[in-house]
Amino acid sequence: MSTREQEKTDDGRDDARADGDARSSDGVAESSDGVRETSLDLPDEELLELARVFSQMALDSVVSPAARPVFPETSTRELAELFRKPLPVEGCALETLADECRQVVAHSRQNGHPRMFGYVASPASPAAALAAWLTATLNQNVTSWRSSPAATEIERNVVRWLAEMIGYAGAGRNETCGGLLTSGGSLANLNALYVAHRTASRASATNGATTSDASNESSNGVALSETSSGVASHDPSREGLWNARAPMTIYASEEIHFSIPKAADILGLGRENVRLVPTDERFRIDVRALEERIESDVENGLRPFCVVASAGTVSTGAVDALAEVARVARTRGLWFHIDGAYGALAASDASKRTLFDGLEEADSLSLDPHKWLYAPVGTGCVIYREPERARAAFAEASHAGGYVKVFEQDETEAHAFWDYGAELSRPFRALAVWAALRYYGARRIAAAIAEDCALAAHMAELVSASVDFELLAPVTLGICCFRFVTESARRELEQTDDEGARERINTQLDELNARIVQRVQRGGAAYISNATLRGRFALRASITNFRTTRRDIELTLDAVRRAASEVEKG
Ligand SMILES: Cc1ncc(COP(=O)(O)O)c(C=O)c1O
Repeated sequence: MSTREQEKTDDGRDDARADGDARSSDGVAESSDGVRETSLDLPDEELLELARVFSQMALDSVVSPAARPVFPETSTRELAELFRKPLPVEGCALETLADECRQVVAHSRQNGHPRMFGYVASPASPAAALAAWLTATLNQNVTSWRSSPAATEIERNVVRWLAEMIGYAGAGRNETCGGLLTSGGSLANLNALYVAHRTASRASATNGATTSDASNESSNGVALSETSSGVASHDPSREGLWNARAPMTIYASEEIHFSIPKAADILGLGRENVRLVPTDERFRIDVRALEERIESDVENGLRPFCVVASAGTVSTGAVDALAEVARVARTRGLWFHIDGAYGALAASDASKRTLFDGLEEADSLSLDPHKWLYAPVGTGCVIYREPERARAAFAEASHAGGYVKVFEQDETEAHAFWDYGAELSRPFRALAVWAALRYYGARRIAAAIAEDCALAAHMAELVSASVDFELLAPVTLGICCFRFVTESARRELEQTDDEGARERINTQLDELNARIVQRVQRGGAAYISNATLRGRFALRASITNFRTTRRDIELTLDAVRRAASEVEKG
C-alpha cells in the first residue's frame, strides 16, 4: 500500500480533510485541502493518454525498425526550423508534444534499422529498452545501497553476470572481482586507468622510496619503478602531478581506441606517455615490440605502470594476444587493463572463446553492454579483479563528501559506488541489462553475437569474391573493412611495382571511397562508416545488430556499388 493510500480514510477521503486537522502526522503544516497547486502530476485519464501516446511511438520503432531510411533526409536548416524554439513559457497540448516527438523520430538516424552498421551502434533489445522506461519512472539515484537498495544489488549482480559471461569470473577464477556500470567504454577506461595509476603511485609510497628495495613488485603486484628510481615518492591524489618525477607510461597498440590517450590526458599523465606499439599483420599488438618499448623506456628513466590490450579494436575488431600481453605485464609488475568495450562480450560465443585466452588475467577490464549486449546507449562497465584497489584509490578522492558519509556497518549495506568510479549521482543502468539477461538468457544473447560475427564473415566472403571490392583486414569478430576498387585501378595495381605509381592510385582510391561512404550514409538504404588502416581509407561495417540478415549484407554491398557508380558519374 502506498503512503498516499495509507493517508486515506476508508471512504477515500484524505485523513487531514476527514478530521479537519491541517497538520500531517509528523506535525508539519500543510495546506488545509491537501492539494498542491504546482504539482506536475496528471489526472489519471491524462496520464494514461500520455503513456499510450509514448508507448505507441516506442513500439512503432521496435515493430517497424526499417520503416524509415537509416539516415533521415534532413538538413541543419530544417532541424533548426523544427526544434530551435524559444523557451516555452506555457505548456502545449499532448498532441502537439506527440507531433514534435514524431518529428524527432523522423529526423533521427535509425539505430534499430537492420542495415545500421556505422561505428559500433547496436539496436536496444525490446526487453532492455522497455525496462529502461521503467528505470526513468522509478528514477533511482544509484549512489549506494542505502539510496537504492534493489538497484545496488542488481547492479553488483549484473557486473558479476557480465564477468561470468565472458569467462573472466567463474570456475574459481577472479571470485572477488567487481565493478560498476558506466556511461560507456570511455568512462570505464578512464576509471580503470585512474585506479591503475593511483595504485601504482600508492604502492611506491607505502613501500618507501629507496634504491635498496630489492623487489620490483609491491605486495599487491604493482610496479615499483618509482621506488627503484630511488627518489622520494609523492601522492598524486593529494599533491597533484605538478611535482611528479619522470613520466609514468602506459603501453598499448597503435590500434587502441582514442579513449585511452584521452584518459591519460584527463588524468594529467599526458597523451605522449601512452606509448603506441606497432601491430602485426592481423592488427594485433606486436608483443616483441611492446617488450622492447618498455625496456627502452625503463633504461631512459621513465616509469612504466600499465599495459592496455584490446579485446576487439574499434577499427577491425582485432583481439590482441591477451595471454602474451598479460605475461609481459606480469613479469614487469605492471597493471594489465583490457579494453573490451567493443569485443569482450564476443567471448560469450564459445566458438570465439580461445581468441580471448588470457582475459582472466586482467587487473581491470572494460566492456560495453550498449554495444554487444544490445542495451540502450549509456551502458558501459568496468570490472576490477580486486575492487579494493579501486576503493583505495577513489576513497582518497571522495574525502570531501562529508554529507555522503556511510554509517552502515554491514559490507552490503555500506556499499557506495562512488568508491569505485568517478560519478556520484548515477542512473539505474543495470535494470535494462538485468531485464535482457533474465528475459532472453545469456545463451540466446551469445547466439545473437555469434550470428553477428558470422554475418561479418559472410560479408568478407562476398567482398573477397568480387572484383570491384578488396578486403582490407581479416575479420576477427563482427567488423568487415574493405574498399571499392575501380576496374582500371585494379588493373594498374596488378601491373605495377612502382611505389610512386601505387601510392598515386591508392590515394585516388582513398578519395573515391571517402566520397562513397558519405553517399551511402546519406542514401538511407544502409549505413556504414570508415577506418584508416595502414594509412589507407577503408569502408567499415560493424555488425552488432540482432536484426541483420544475410540479405541485409547483400543489400548493403549493392548500396556501396550504387554509390560508387553515382560518384564516378560525378
Ligand atoms: C574498443 C573501444 N574502446 C572504447 C570505446 C569507447 O566507448 P564509448 O563510446 O562507450 O565511450 C569504443 C567505442 O566504440 C571502442 O570501440
